[in-house]
Amino acid sequence: MSLGMNFHNNFRPLAVLALSCVSIFLGGCRQDMQDQPKYKPQRPSQFFADGRSGRPELEGTVARGALNDDSAFYEGKDEKGGDVDVFPVAVDRAFIERGQQRYDIYCAPCHGRIGNGLGMIVRRGFKQPPSYHIDRLRNAPAGHFYDVITNGYGAMLNYAAQVQPRDRWAIVAYIRALQYSQNANINELTADARSKVPAAGAPLSAEQQAARKSQPLVPADSDFYNFPAEPATPSGVPGASGAGARKSNQPERK
Ligand code: HEC
Repeated sequence: MSLGMNFHNNFRPLAVLALSCVSIFLGGCRQDMQDQPKYKPQRPSQFFADGRSGRPELEGTVARGALNDDSAFYEGKDEKGGDVDVFPVAVDRAFIERGQQRYDIYCAPCHGRIGNGLGMIVRRGFKQPPSYHIDRLRNAPAGHFYDVITNGYGAMLNYAAQVQPRDRWAIVAYIRALQYSQNANINELTADARSKVPAAGAPLSAEQQAARKSQPLVPADSDFYNFPAEPATPSGVPGASGAGARKSNQPERK
């Protein structure tokens, strides 16, 4: 009896090993992680009733790291749903410079490098946006600009996919700097900076002329390389109806 028990205990692992060898041979010897059964993205599935391998999010659940419950940061709104006017991030020079870089990529093509609304796309016929230097937008809370980038505004599409929340705030900070650049109070400047501002009617120094040429308030067509004097805007361009829109000299596309 005790001999029988020992026999059983000693040989069970061997039996398991033998069995798994058989199944390994049947299964083609081995299965590595790189060729385990899996679905490729967008492939159909016979397993799920709706025929899709990609499963929808479960209702009432939030993916890890996607709670986004800071409404000031993610939506630019306070608890009452109004636009925040305080930046929900620390703003320093590097942050504003990041904003300048993003602005020049994503906004300047329409709004212009200094925010006057005369970007190249507008000069080619897209609806002209308002200048950032009008009183209404100077007084608009920071959250309004964040909201426009996130949700779009009228003829302007949103930039939520291209510009992530932190960069949206960086752009808003840079727009504030742009606004300040065109509307600074001379008495707030340091004496050194004030001495560089030309007196009204006084002739410009060479340095001032160079500065004005590098950042013209309203660039001339000749400032752009290869820009035709009468650009052709094909009709049917969305938004091509604002003040900046030009008549097409192209035949109507059928
Ligand atoms: C393709 C052109 C285009 C681009 C690019 C663009 N905008 Fe606009 N934007 C417009 C137009 C056009 C309007 C005016 C929309 C209207 O009133 O129908 C506008 C309006 C605005 C306004 C004014 C909203 C108001 O209260 O009147 C803000 C602020 C703004 N855009 C910010 C931005 C920012 C920031 C970016 C870059 C992330 C950007 N836009 C990129 C075309 C553009």
